[in-house]
Amino acid sequence: MENVLVTGGAGFIGSCFIRHLLRHDIRVRIVNLDTLTYAGSLDNLADLPDPARHMFVHGDICDRELVANLFRQYEIDTVVHFAAETHVDRSIIGPSAFIQTNVVGTFSLLEAARDTWLGRRASGRHVKRFLHISTDEVYGSLGPTDPPFSESTPYAPNSPYAASKAASDHLVRAYGHTYGFPVLITNCSNNFGPHQFPEKLIPLIILNALEGKPLPVYGDGGHVRDWLFVEDHCEALEIVLRKARDFETYNIGGDCQATNLQVVEQVCAIIDQLRSDSPWAPHRSLIQFVTDRPGHDRRYAMDTSRIRGELGWQPRHTLAEGLRETVDWYLSNPGWLDAIRANTGYKEWLHANYTGRVEGGTG
Ligand code: NAD
Ligand code: DAU
Repeated sequence: MENVLVTGGAGFIGSCFIRHLLRHDIRVRIVNLDTLTYAGSLDNLADLPDPARHMFVHGDICDRELVANLFRQYEIDTVVHFAAETHVDRSIIGPSAFIQTNVVGTFSLLEAARDTWLGRRASGRHVKRFLHISTDEVYGSLGPTDPPFSESTPYAPNSPYAASKAASDHLVRAYGHTYGFPVLITNCSNNFGPHQFPEKLIPLIILNALEGKPLPVYGDGGHVRDWLFVEDHCEALEIVLRKARDFETYNIGGDCQATNLQVVEQVCAIIDQLRSDSPWAPHRSLIQFVTDRPGHDRRYAMDTSRIRGELGWQPRHTLAEGLRETVDWYLSNPGWLDAIRANTGYKEWLHANYTGRVEGGTG
């Protein structure tokens, strides 16, 4: 691994991965291709260790000419593909961008890599790797007593977001199978941590609680997610890049199932402690059950025995430790939140997603 193309590196997980890689590998040079949608921000890259080894390129992964030029110009030997539209609720209101970026964009990257790595111009100088970052949502939804998703669980995506990620996984896998192309796929559960855009549950709850606004919990709050602190995910990805065999798929997760209501209550309790002078304490009194998400998956859980057994990875943070660090980060970085709060697009999103949701509604 010398010249790494990271896509979506101005987003939540991508920026964390770049910080992680620069800190742990003193040789890599990173080209970060990101089009800076509402979810991406250069503020997420303000505190990079050794920033001289990071180069930001403002552009779209769907731009095949740009992508092909980057491969050639920077002799890319490793791709770590994060760029995506990622919010399920947005995919329900407007799926089009999800098909474009997640499916067509992934195709564009695969074609550039195929052309450069396997085509006429291939130098054969280094081992090449294309790591595609995907999600547990491709597997669908579990019942309360079902075993966790394993790497052989059949795909059954339920939302337009999940379907677009499943389509991209299939494309990546097909390139590996057909062209002998050096692919790896990881499917991860729900991440949380610093720099997550406050449309996702945990940062939205933190932001609303700080402002004394209602904390919207969809349906009965009994939906289960398997939570993983983002730094643990990034460490897993680095280990996969270094140690995994080509064509392998790994499930990554926190082995940490909790209902949404439990998570929201934990976040409220931490804010109560850290902001004991808040007029809204106890913050759990702000919780409001609202109309459910259409087609809402009831439960996700990951069987991570393959990555633990083969590659020796395990998460370092418990949910409680990760939540404490996360809340602390949001309280210590009001400027980061203020920039988002001031954005008209963010206000419009809150309006589009939450207006009309009925209090006490179940969907
Ligand atoms: P995010 O929404 O925070 O960031 C996505 C980034 O991609 C942004 O910086 C955005 O500007 C960029 N981007 C979007 N469209 C682009 C395009 N066409 N060209 C170039 N850049 C583009 O996302 P995240 O939560 O950091 O997720 C990163 C990846 O991890 C995604 O592929 C997602 O499916 C996957 N994933 C996320 C989670 C999670 O809990 N957040 C869990 C499992 C897997
Ligand atoms: O499972 C991995 C996936 O996790 C990633 O692939 C996605 O990119 C990421 O967005 C996340 O998807 P979820 O839909 O699980 O995350 P979200 O934070 O949107 O919601 C978490 C749970 O909380 C979910 O059951 C819906 C619920 N929820 C969410 C919001 C925004 C609420 O109850 N209220 C809310 O306001």
